[in-house]
Amino acid sequence: MSYKLFIPGPIAVSTKTLQAMAQPMIGHRSTDFVALYNGLQPKLQTLFATKDPVYISTSSAWGSMEGAVRNLTKTKVLNCMNGAFSDKWNDVALRVGKGAGALKSEWGQPVDPAALRKELATGAYDTVTLIHNETSTGTMSDLSALAAVLREFPDVISIVDTVSSFSAVPIEKDALGIDVIITGSQKALALPPGLSLISVSKRALDRAAGVTQRGYYFDFVEFQKNHEQGMTPSTPVIPLIYALKSKVEEIEAETLPVRYARHLRLNETMRAWGAAKGFTLFPAKEFGSRSLNCFSNTLNYDLGALNKTLK
Ligand SMILES: Cc1ncc(COP(=O)(O)O)c(C=O)c1O
Repeated sequence: MSYKLFIPGPIAVSTKTLQAMAQPMIGHRSTDFVALYNGLQPKLQTLFATKDPVYISTSSAWGSMEGAVRNLTKTKVLNCMNGAFSDKWNDVALRVGKGAGALKSEWGQPVDPAALRKELATGAYDTVTLIHNETSTGTMSDLSALAAVLREFPDVISIVDTVSSFSAVPIEKDALGIDVIITGSQKALALPPGLSLISVSKRALDRAAGVTQRGYYFDFVEFQKNHEQGMTPSTPVIPLIYALKSKVEEIEAETLPVRYARHLRLNETMRAWGAAKGFTLFPAKEFGSRSLNCFSNTLNYDLGALNKTLK
């Protein structure tokens, strides 16, 4: 069976990455594992542009997304909703029994910084979730503008999903002052699915320590305790961690600026291809005049037109 994947993810995995997974198994409490984990940390921190720890979770992104809300919301979370994944985050927050408010934008619209400010000013929320790049509509919100608003509310912990933008466009966690950034393995990192990365600030960890019912598998306090020993709380998916090592070494060799430029070039090629075939971007046209980031730089397609073509 041969596949050529043109979906946001999982994307094709290189032979090099697949081969990296085919290594002898090691114990997750062994010195070899500690060396693997600790060796990855500085490289992952560079990708997140942070000094905060980066936890490795054996789960797809949703595990960490649900976990972040369970760990960090004490009173009420504000879910910024502008597409299928961000809408679902609100549902997930309610399902785990948290108070959750909805800041809704029309699908195809980015999250509006002014609306975020207005809602946070009510003082009702201690946590915010938002998705940098809403994969379902190919809409990228302006993370710098949103982070600037979030910094006006220092008691509010920010949780940002970068599943379909991480390592494709620059995201400077510490400079932006974002508490928690989550990503998955099967999109720009081009790894098989099943791994999620979570970078958590000290502020967020302090919050988590005071939250009850964090559960176990995604407990940030457990992650931190184990992280300090170069380990994960439970037996992780070790072959995927071998693959992650291979991938971050590849990215290091390419260098981030070259990688970002390559993604931008591919994005422009894809946009030009779509335009030539008569497709229009799904996000509303007026965003073009606001900033490039209002369009998705990693994904963009008019799902309606594409579906009609495929039928
Ligand atoms: C923006 C975004 N968030 C969350 C998810 C959920 O990821 P997963 O299904 O890997 O848990 C996806 C997956 O496509 C996504 O694109």
